Amino acid sequence: MPGMLENKVIAVTGAGRGIGRAVALACADAGASVIVNDFGVSMDGSEPSSEVADAVVKEIEAAGGTAIALADDISTMDAGERLVRTAVDKFGRIDGVVTVAGILRERMLFNMSEEEWDGVVQTHLKGTFTVFKAASAVMRKQEGGGSLVAFTSGVGMWGSIAQANYAAAKAGIVGLMRSAALGLERYGVNANAIAPVASTRMQANVPGGTAETGEPEDIAPMVVFLLSDAARSITGQTYTVVGGRVALWSQPREIKEISKDGRWTPEELAQRLPDEVGIDRLPMLDYIEEMKAKAAAEQTSPAS
Ligand SMILES: NC(=O)c1ccc[n+]([C@@H]2O[C@H](COP(=O)([O-])OP(=O)(O)OC[C@H]3O[C@@H](n4cnc5c(N)ncnc54)[C@H](O)[C@@H]3O)[C@@H](O)[C@H]2O)c1
Repeated sequence: MPGMLENKVIAVTGAGRGIGRAVALACADAGASVIVNDFGVSMDGSEPSSEVADAVVKEIEAAGGTAIALADDISTMDAGERLVRTAVDKFGRIDGVVTVAGILRERMLFNMSEEEWDGVVQTHLKGTFTVFKAASAVMRKQEGGGSLVAFTSGVGMWGSIAQANYAAAKAGIVGLMRSAALGLERYGVNANAIAPVASTRMQANVPGGTAETGEPEDIAPMVVFLLSDAARSITGQTYTVVGGRVALWSQPREIKEISKDGRWTPEELAQRLPDEVGIDRLPMLDYIEEMKAKAAAEQTSPAS
């Protein structure tokens, strides 16, 4: 049976390790020619190497697939263009891009340096823009359009205690993905995002771990589906994927309001807003309280 990506050309960033690697291997297995981008950096974005991208290309070739390695820093405009140009020069088109590359530089907001902020935002958010921009410029003109798949995180929706840079970048990616979906629909290009959870070196850096996890290979089938012709009508969506669970995120909506003719005064708002509009409590606050209560209970009755 032909794979779901037969004759397609797909580029995957951050494809040398973790989830990106699993996605690149699954795309090749589904019949695509794959451009494997990975800067080959450590968790904080330092010490680049071309080895990890090369190794994944070798794995794909050993399994009978077709792939090309690029070891660029995807946060540069040149790298985004080179990724897409390589696909077009070698294989004649670019059907899908998947922006998985990411780093972590964890720090409380009040201690975060400009460098810690910039590196994370550039890798995740700009590294999605560089690829989406270059790919959409080609996709809008080619027959059959194309597919954009971004990687966000639950942290982008919920916030994070000590990863304000990462949470801001991941929330920005959802805004970028929705805008791409809106602007490119008329050209037959769809855009979606995945919020994954999987056991990788990045996940090992999450303080206290995550409530649920799975393998990078659990994420890949959903990406293959979103890149395939079977998902052409799906656009502007964000899906959690973890283990065997796939869940759809809601679109943000206003949920409660007050209104009057003309402008509110601060005093009027102080009087009416708390009761009549109120707040939508951050779900993470409840989670943090649960964790604190659990830690306190463990301290009072330590496991024997
Ligand atoms: N693992 C999880 O549970 C989890 C949870 C939420 C979101 N995510 C997101 O999923 C994606 C993949 O995460 P992972 O856990 O597989 O991480 P990982 O660290 O295993 O892999 C990330 C890869 O990106 C590459 N990379 C980093 N900077 C790059 C750059 N500038 N240009 C090109 N490549 C670069 C790294 O070299 C690395 O191989 C990330 O965007 C991450 O934020 C992961």
